Amino acid sequence: MFKKLQEPVNISRGYLYALHLMLLTALVGLIYSLSASFLDFPSLFLSDKKIVTIAHRGASGYAPESTLSSYRLGVKMGADYIEIDVQMTADGELVAMHDTSVNRTTNGKGAVKDMTLAEIKALDAGSWFNEKHPIYARDDYANEKVPTLREIFEAFGKDTRYMLETKDPEDSPGMEEKMWALVEEYDLRKYVAVQSFSPASLLKIRTWDKDVPLFQLLWYNRPARISERTLSEIGEYANGIGANYLRINEDYVDKVKQSGLLIYPYTVNYQVNMENAVKWGVDGVHTDFPDRLLEVIEELDDPEA
Ligand code: G3P
Ligand code: CA
Repeated sequence: MFKKLQEPVNISRGYLYALHLMLLTALVGLIYSLSASFLDFPSLFLSDKKIVTIAHRGASGYAPESTLSSYRLGVKMGADYIEIDVQMTADGELVAMHDTSVNRTTNGKGAVKDMTLAEIKALDAGSWFNEKHPIYARDDYANEKVPTLREIFEAFGKDTRYMLETKDPEDSPGMEEKMWALVEEYDLRKYVAVQSFSPASLLKIRTWDKDVPLFQLLWYNRPARISERTLSEIGEYANGIGANYLRINEDYVDKVKQSGLLIYPYTVNYQVNMENAVKWGVDGVHTDFPDRLLEVIEELDDPEA
């Protein structure tokens, strides 16, 4: 038996070619699958300008916030994401609204979590905008309805990406489960990112999807500082941080980026501030005026233009 093994093996040229081809195919496959998993995030979410534009509550500088009109305009302007504050009604429906009460942005009164969807749907969510911003007022904004998350997904599908914010999730147990079920129903896993001020809410979502981009929201009422420890804790479950622009600076941005996290400041509406944020090296910007941000990015990209 040993003698037989010691004999020179006669390997044909064709066999060698086939072997090389197999190895090459395996190598290409390995490189492709590795690069795909690395590139899946954040490249999928980056515009070709490399800075993500997030239409905050839609293009809410120009249309009543968190309505289909506002989201439609955000998508039309070319924002990478539309940002949606998700809340749950008394009868367990998910709607888009920022405040916990309907008082500011509709003609009604009451807390979202204590009202049924039918009660919320009866409200006018647009006329307040026409009164407050006559310069951008439009007849069709009057009597605009509060949209459900389902209606938003139905309207835009895979034509945009969604920055979903779980709003006060501790007051609406089960909100994340319903939100995620809807994301799956519309096959939008690759089209959503989730942000929240609640680490518990983000952690919950991380257990269901290891790849979905998660952003820990932070709010500072004084010049922002962040420790290595906090950054490393956030890095355990999230991909980035959203922080209020007015309290951060270049050092803060540097520190977050050094830790490997992304930084998307909110809510930046003046072009001079957008320009600062871009120069500091932020990865994305939340704005009510996506067209202004896209203009800034374009100009900084090509100063001759
Ligand atoms: O997009 C970040 C920002 O939405 C967080 O603040 O209060 O506007 O929801 P807020
Ligand atoms: Ca928000």
